[in-house]
Amino acid sequence: MAEGPEFSQVRAGSRQSSQKSLNRCGAKRRPFPHNDFAALDAILTQIRGQFAKVMIAIEGTYSMDGDIPDLPRFVETRDKHHCLLFVDEAHSIGVIGDTGRGIGELFNVDRTHVDIWMGTLSKAFASCGGYVAGKKALIEYLKSAARGRLARLSGSPSASRLARHFRTRASDLHGPWRDLL
Ligand SMILES: Cc1ncc(COP(=O)(O)O)c(C=O)c1O
Repeated sequence: MAEGPEFSQVRAGSRQSSQKSLNRCGAKRRPFPHNDFAALDAILTQIRGQFAKVMIAIEGTYSMDGDIPDLPRFVETRDKHHCLLFVDEAHSIGVIGDTGRGIGELFNVDRTHVDIWMGTLSKAFASCGGYVAGKKALIEYLKSAARGRLARLSGSPSASRLARHFRTRASDLHGPWRDLL
């Protein structure tokens, strides 16, 4: 694709919010068959050279089917094609893994092998707001580039407190949750 945008996002499902983000930043979206890392590998082998940057976006648990991606295989695909890997843990954080730390814990994957971890406090943590986790440079970049949004949309102390409270109550009920956050 000679005149394609510089940044391509390759993902399976598609939330409206992620589609809007792609439209706003001008990225091209390339879906791949659900959870199929071999198909993703084949697509990337074909198109990777056309883009400066590619981000693979997956979810920790897919809400419609309740299935979980094979994270180590997606990390391998990321490494092979020099992409970024984004994992949306909205439905997995607080639920998946022995202590609820999500699919990184389930697969015992080095968390630094995922470039962007994103999650919400509105599901397992019974609050609202969310988080992005990654390397320091990414977080510094977001703090700087999204400063206006951080000022207007950051989580309220009461919502954060509620999420923390729920974590504490959950740890009372289920021992392994004690160290979750
Ligand atoms: C996969 C996924 N990511 C992110 C979100 C966003 O969560 P929130 O409703 O807290 O903004 C949702 C919400 O349903 C979701 O299903």
